[in-house]
Amino acid sequence: MRIPGLIDPHVHMREPGATHKEDWASGTAAALAGGFTQVLAMPNTDPPVVDGESLALAAQLAEHGARCDFGLYLGAGADNVSQTAALAERCAGLKLYLDQTYGPLRLDEMTLWFEHFKAWPKNRPLVAHAEGRSLAAAILVSELVDRPLHLAHVAAREEILLVRAAKERSLKVTCEVTPHHLFLTADDLPGGWGEVRPRLGTQVDVDALWQNLEVIDCFATDHAPHTAAEKASANPPPGFPGLETALPLLLTAVGEGRLTLEDVITRMADNVRRIFGVPAQPETWVEFDLDAEHTLSAQGMQGKAGWTPFEGWQVRGAVRQVVLRGQTVYQDGRVLAQPGYGQRIKL
Ligand code: NCD
Ligand code: ZN
Ligand code: ZN
Repeated sequence: MRIPGLIDPHVHMREPGATHKEDWASGTAAALAGGFTQVLAMPNTDPPVVDGESLALAAQLAEHGARCDFGLYLGAGADNVSQTAALAERCAGLKLYLDQTYGPLRLDEMTLWFEHFKAWPKNRPLVAHAEGRSLAAAILVSELVDRPLHLAHVAAREEILLVRAAKERSLKVTCEVTPHHLFLTADDLPGGWGEVRPRLGTQVDVDALWQNLEVIDCFATDHAPHTAAEKASANPPPGFPGLETALPLLLTAVGEGRLTLEDVITRMADNVRRIFGVPAQPETWVEFDLDAEHTLSAQGMQGKAGWTPFEGWQVRGAVRQVVLRGQTVYQDGRVLAQPGYGQRIKL
């Protein structure tokens, strides 16, 4: 079967600064293997992408390394409110970290949230990492300054119910949910392996996400690779690789009747395009086999993390071929696109 190239609005490529975890060449190879032809990359690199200089560095590295098309987020910092608007046209969106997670970009001061929400152009995406009560506060701030807000990785029952309530009042909020929050609970992974932000929830949280599928606008991987050695260490960083497991997991759920293929395409292509203003790609598609049964394993994956939270999972549905702008870029386990084939998305 043939579906459009998928778009992941939330990935971490780790270049510059932590290329032992991932770089543009490996991360976009993982994207193509997973059926994604466009990715939007988060700014919590080292250095973080917070101004013209760091954005230019990130763009140069991405242009050099990317095998699929890409956009770059700008990070909201303590000192860059006056600079963001001028960079908006070159960015996929502005990212605000309102809670503690991996990287240095957390914004504690709520008055700063207001300033960033006001300064960023209303027609450009503003994305927040906001958990629990921070999510409630972020929705209020977006309403008070009257601008759209996209909520990253909604994970808990209380969060998805809040998003539902906000949408029922016609507030301008959209949200994404990750496969790991749809398929895993905190009991599934031991110790540092299970560390991720937002944390994995209980079965009650997982059930609430599935019951509120209609308020979930996008499925985003939050591909956040850290190496197996780092995850096994005394101080494990939060985050899971996800680009190569998302589609097989969701196709398996399609096979089980838990959602439809159309539900998947809407949330991994159409809605992402609309919310983020991502242009269509000519002559671009993914061929997959809905009946191919296989076992997920980090062995043979393209990403550098070297592990997956879904190791050993039996799935049905495999990507066979990816064609990007008329070129076969992935075929039966082999990535054919070279680093540099990917283009910066014109936003
Ligand atoms: C992400 C990372 O490692 O960059 N980690 C995570 O647990 N999700 C950061 C983030 O998306 O919050
Ligand atoms: Zn986050
Ligand atoms: Zn993330």
